[in-house]
Amino acid sequence: MADSSAGIESLGDLRGKRVLVRSDLNVPLDGTTITDDGRIRASVPTITQLSDAGARVVVTAHLGRPKGAPDPAYSLEPVAGRLSELLGRPVAFATDTVGASASETVAGLQDGDVALLENVRFNDGETSKDDEVRGAFADQLAQLADAFVSDGFGVVHRKQASVYDVALRLPSAMGGLVAAEVDVLRRLTEEPERPYVVVLGGSKVSDKLGVIDNLIDKADKLLIGGGMVFTFLKAQGHEVGKSLLEADQLDTCNRYLSEAADRGVEIVLPTDVVVDTAFPSGDREPQPSVVPASEIPADALGLDIGPESAAAFAAALADARTVFWNGPMGVFETDAFAGGTRAVAQALTEIDGLSVVGGGDSAAAVRQLGFDEAAFGHISTGGGASLEFLEGKELPGIAVLERG
Ligand code: 3PG
Repeated sequence: MADSSAGIESLGDLRGKRVLVRSDLNVPLDGTTITDDGRIRASVPTITQLSDAGARVVVTAHLGRPKGAPDPAYSLEPVAGRLSELLGRPVAFATDTVGASASETVAGLQDGDVALLENVRFNDGETSKDDEVRGAFADQLAQLADAFVSDGFGVVHRKQASVYDVALRLPSAMGGLVAAEVDVLRRLTEEPERPYVVVLGGSKVSDKLGVIDNLIDKADKLLIGGGMVFTFLKAQGHEVGKSLLEADQLDTCNRYLSEAADRGVEIVLPTDVVVDTAFPSGDREPQPSVVPASEIPADALGLDIGPESAAAFAAALADARTVFWNGPMGVFETDAFAGGTRAVAQALTEIDGLSVVGGGDSAAAVRQLGFDEAAFGHISTGGGASLEFLEGKELPGIAVLERG
């Protein structure tokens, strides 16, 4: 996909030009403290490249899902500070996206300067399903710039004004981050080296249906953990106590289990589970215990795969030449339930081949658990975007660049 899309060099000499860059700066915040700055760090090379080329760089991004109007809880201001530290140069912050502050801030930029606009989702045109409403907002964004660079891989699956419509209005190019992500993800879909092992976790089976459908005949093994595993265990006839359960997905899980068997794909489910009687909270110390996956007590909920399963998952990964992992194995934010996620992350660092951590929570887990990012082949900045790519869907933010 990336081959047919032009990179930044296609925009010609950028000195003195205003370049709007769509980055994905959607980072987790605790109040105004950034708890994982991975996406900000990933956005730095393209912004630096543009700034070094003498462009007047105008970064636009979203944070969270505000309701189309300003909401201080979702302000990008803390992100501007961190971006400035990481770039090692000042970042002017505009307190709106297309209003007076944005115009003044952009007008005040010198060659090589960088500005960040306030959360683009404070404007209802950004996410509108109405093409005209979105287009009108994209017109306003486009007035701030002479060219557009799409570098927010985490949002390329969104048909939104700052991702899609603005690319129809300005000379546009694919940023290096998007190009690199697409390149790696393509290696997972086109002739991956075998054995190819896919590890899926996270809370919901329903979020992973498309990717399971698409990978069930490509992967050699599918390891399943996280909250979604309890629907699989229930589908196998086990009681799962108070664990997360998507009752409407039981038939789907059964279909996957039998399709995998028919195609010779090994589905590995945990044989033991770490349970507690309540979800972890600040109010009480966790009381973890390990039980067989087939014997989850009625008053307990599963919060991690158990140690026997963690060892089995690590063994199943040991000879892999290609691995894609999306979704933690348990509630890794609490140490008592982090063992499964830690074991999978560790196994990925040891494989002799391409290991890809697919964005979102699993990428945050890797960093939070203290792993060296360089030990993984690739840590994607896209959660939903990388899944949709692997589902084989067209991603609007990439397709629009390919139109040329
Ligand atoms: C993400 O967090 O996956 C991206 O930033 C996209 O965010 P969204 O799911 O709110 O569109």
